[in-house]
Amino acid sequence: MIKSSENDEILYHIGISRKMVEGAEYAVLPGDPGRVRFLADKIGPARHLGTHREYTSYLAKLQGTPVLVSSTGMGGPSVSIGLEELARLGIKNFIRVGTTGSIQDNVELADLVINKGAVRLDGASRHYAPLEFPAVASFGLTRALIDAASELSLPYHVGISVSSDTFWPGQERYDSFTGYVPRAFQGTLEEWRILGALNYEMETATLFVAAQAMGLSAASVCGVIAKRTAGEKIAPPDVYKLASERFVDVLKLALAKLIIKKE
Ligand code: URA
Repeated sequence: MIKSSENDEILYHIGISRKMVEGAEYAVLPGDPGRVRFLADKIGPARHLGTHREYTSYLAKLQGTPVLVSSTGMGGPSVSIGLEELARLGIKNFIRVGTTGSIQDNVELADLVINKGAVRLDGASRHYAPLEFPAVASFGLTRALIDAASELSLPYHVGISVSSDTFWPGQERYDSFTGYVPRAFQGTLEEWRILGALNYEMETATLFVAAQAMGLSAASVCGVIAKRTAGEKIAPPDVYKLASERFVDVLKLALAKLIIKKE
């Protein structure tokens, strides 16, 4: 049974109601609440709807069509809570935008990675479907992101992410507080690299599996801010700035394609 919310009901975690999203069917999901306003303003005239915990929401109008921009916070559990409540407001299509660490030599800093699938190194997606079930992107949303990146002649890669619950041990980082990576994760970066996975991040697998389990569509585009084949460091802010300019341009064109195509 589908559980939609009442028009005026403010949902407990995200702090907004169905009425406030004005029939929006598309949501853009950055992890960081601090990026929501920037993204919404880039999409079109936007206004703040609410902020509660890690969930900040703005409603932007893209050529008159409402598009919700709502942060998910970091990691699978936060994503799953946001997704559950946004679905109750009537959102059907979810595009994650964020940052990522490359694990392939040819995936450079500030390049874009569009994930068609994800390794389920999270915990939350197991609460939606057994581990044998794949974490796969929506073809239609992903096609629009690829077409947009290609038309804009931006450097992009399409492939599989490794979505980890942790930034340090799960992504085999040794520059942690203790410097210890449990045996289960030692050598895993190299194994994912050999298997052809492109990147590490922390949300995509949960988003893909939970969206599929709920009959919703999801896609993901990330900018590279760490190159793990060269080291463990996060790149300086100018790299993030370039990467975010790129994913904003791709997002905006992809949304225009999807929304115009629908009308
Ligand atoms: N986000 C991650 O989860 N890992 C990185 O290396 C960079 C961004």
